[in-house]
Amino acid sequence: MPSTKRKILVTGSAGQIGSELVVALRKRYGSQAVVACDIKPLGKEEGEGPFELADVTDRKGLERIIRKHGVGIVYHLVSILSATGEKNPNLAWAINVESLRNVLELAVRYKMDKVFWPSSIAAFGPHTPRTHTHQLTVMDPNTMYGITKVTGELLCNYYFVKFGLDVRCIRYPGIISWKTPPGGGTTDYAVAIFHDALRSGRYQCFVSANTVMPMMYMPDAIRATIEFMACPRSRLRTHLGYNLAAMSFSAAELAREVKRHLPNFRCTYKPDERQKIADSWPKSIDDRWSRQDWGWKPEFNLRKTVDDMLKNLRPVVAGSH
Ligand code: SER
Repeated sequence: MPSTKRKILVTGSAGQIGSELVVALRKRYGSQAVVACDIKPLGKEEGEGPFELADVTDRKGLERIIRKHGVGIVYHLVSILSATGEKNPNLAWAINVESLRNVLELAVRYKMDKVFWPSSIAAFGPHTPRTHTHQLTVMDPNTMYGITKVTGELLCNYYFVKFGLDVRCIRYPGIISWKTPPGGGTTDYAVAIFHDALRSGRYQCFVSANTVMPMMYMPDAIRATIEFMACPRSRLRTHLGYNLAAMSFSAAELAREVKRHLPNFRCTYKPDERQKIADSWPKSIDDRWSRQDWGWKPEFNLRKTVDDMLKNLRPVVAGSH
């Protein structure tokens, strides 16, 4: 159980990470201990515990939920991703930054134990060294999404320094998963490719064949999040985002792995505006601080990821025909 009887709140519970983290947290702490919250109604799978329909940009509404359930830990996962954020920068700022401020303010007011917030490789930018990108380096993102991530990290650190709030962030790489459809990110080509390969045997990729980005399979991302949050606070040397890595591959390498399972699969490449976003992000990440401070070690490489994705997604796609 968490250190107190207070509940865990997960915002963005219908999203890519949220929908799987809620299940994992409920398995670990009990279904009643975890309150799921989203602007969309609840999916079936995470439906075994409390749920609140809410807009997290509404601080009063969020406060009501926190009081009602006696919330002591928040995983604030609500986020507009990079490509969607470029189409609607104002919305990205409101959702990604304003809602985080609401959570941080309420966390201080209600003396919460911990807050988790997802940062991203998008916090880096065109002048960041692109390979083995170190924890401490240039951060000059040129997407609104990336700007909200750097801002969010700085805000988290501010609340830690100023109020002693135990707020923790991970800079996730692109996350590959099968439970939710691709959700407006640049790394989401690595999710869409599986859906299209199984549905039609073809995929038109929106980044070029040689585009390399850091990626991670969802079971690793969930385990990382839970292990990171369980780590004693004294072992953490930063309350900005921790770099996190598992694998890096090009779009062509991913397509080749998919083809091993589906020999007739054909991937073509037609880079669009998302190429520029991908080109401003690192190709690989140095996550030694995570490994040293809280014992991070990934389990899924590209081959294992592709095997597991296809195994799980095949029946889902077959069922949707
Ligand atoms: N997966 C995110 C995106 O592509 C990056 O954090 O927008």
